[in-house]
Amino acid sequence: MSFALADLAVPLIGAPMAGGPGTPALATAVSGAGGLGFLAAGYRSAQQVSEDLRAVRSAGAGPVGLNLFVPQPSTADPAEIDRYRAELATVAARYGVELGVPRWDDDGWTDKLEVVADLRPEVVSFTFALPDRAVLQRLSELGICTLMTVTTVAEARAAVAGGAAGLVVQGPEAGGHRGSWRPDERPATQPLGDLVAAVRHVVDVPIVAAGGLGTPETVAAVLARGADAAQLGTALLLSDEAGTNAVHRAALSCGEPSETAVTRAFSGRYARGLHNAFVDRFDAVAPGGYPEVHHLAAPLRRAAVAAGDPDWTNLWAGTAFAAAEAGPAAAVIAALTP
Ligand SMILES: Cc1cc2nc3c(=O)[nH]c(=O)nc-3n(C[C@H](O)[C@H](O)[C@H](O)COP(=O)(O)O)c2cc1C
Repeated sequence: MSFALADLAVPLIGAPMAGGPGTPALATAVSGAGGLGFLAAGYRSAQQVSEDLRAVRSAGAGPVGLNLFVPQPSTADPAEIDRYRAELATVAARYGVELGVPRWDDDGWTDKLEVVADLRPEVVSFTFALPDRAVLQRLSELGICTLMTVTTVAEARAAVAGGAAGLVVQGPEAGGHRGSWRPDERPATQPLGDLVAAVRHVVDVPIVAAGGLGTPETVAAVLARGADAAQLGTALLLSDEAGTNAVHRAALSCGEPSETAVTRAFSGRYARGLHNAFVDRFDAVAPGGYPEVHHLAAPLRRAAVAAGDPDWTNLWAGTAFAAAEAGPAAAVIAALTP
């Protein structure tokens, strides 16, 4: 029997969090607490994704979701990327690191789809672009529930018309990358609750609401506007099972920097994180172009983390970051259950 969101004991989903925070232990803990734990395939090899899925399966906690980055055509302008390289180089020199090669890649899309077909997580969510109908069809024939991340009503309609079984409706409050299908445009700003209600009005598939949910009241509010479940990212970043790095944890826990900002400076794609020196210095001059800018800036971001410096790395966080609590993920899930 295939999985349905309505079967969850607790209507909470642990957001997929690529780049370290999402771990098999976190997915296992969220599913064990009655929600749906997620693994992030982004930036990992197909082999690593397979190992992650097997680790969650062998822990036997229940259903699991896997999130995939859907490749998009390159939008990077080589001259703009060269100009940005020169800007970033002034800071990279402080750490003595070489910047990365600004290459396009598809994040191992085809190989990861084979891992999915082989190991069959109950749910697969997609972000950044709508996959071909044939991909969605194939997964649903395998009994997998497909969820498409959308950030506007227009994307929601197109996702359902294109074969998605359900939607992750991501609001502007969300931490990390926006899933917008038009990465060259500034992402939409309609608040999550209003966006969920507007999407509910035009589609009849299950909806997961994501973005800025840090209290049981805000979770209850999006459920009341028509969501079937709520997805928590930032709320889980300080949990024991998350792989959040020490610099990121410290910045979130001490509340310094004290606000978030949306920028494409770190990766070439708009994302929300804590407002630090990197945002001040590069937001206004950063070009679009994901994943080229991501690869270009990666060595600088890694060097800053290794040096324990919160100024020159991305500190993804949603608007409700001040509510994030340390402790077991199961306690976070219990505390946020409406
Ligand atoms: C550190 C971090 C990494 C993320 N990585 C992914 C990802 O790999 N795939 C994805 O679809 N969303 C990703 N997101 C976005 C989440 O799925 C979700 O939309 C967001 O966390 C919800 O907002 P919140 O952080 O305020 O709870 C990430 C968010 C964070 C904070």
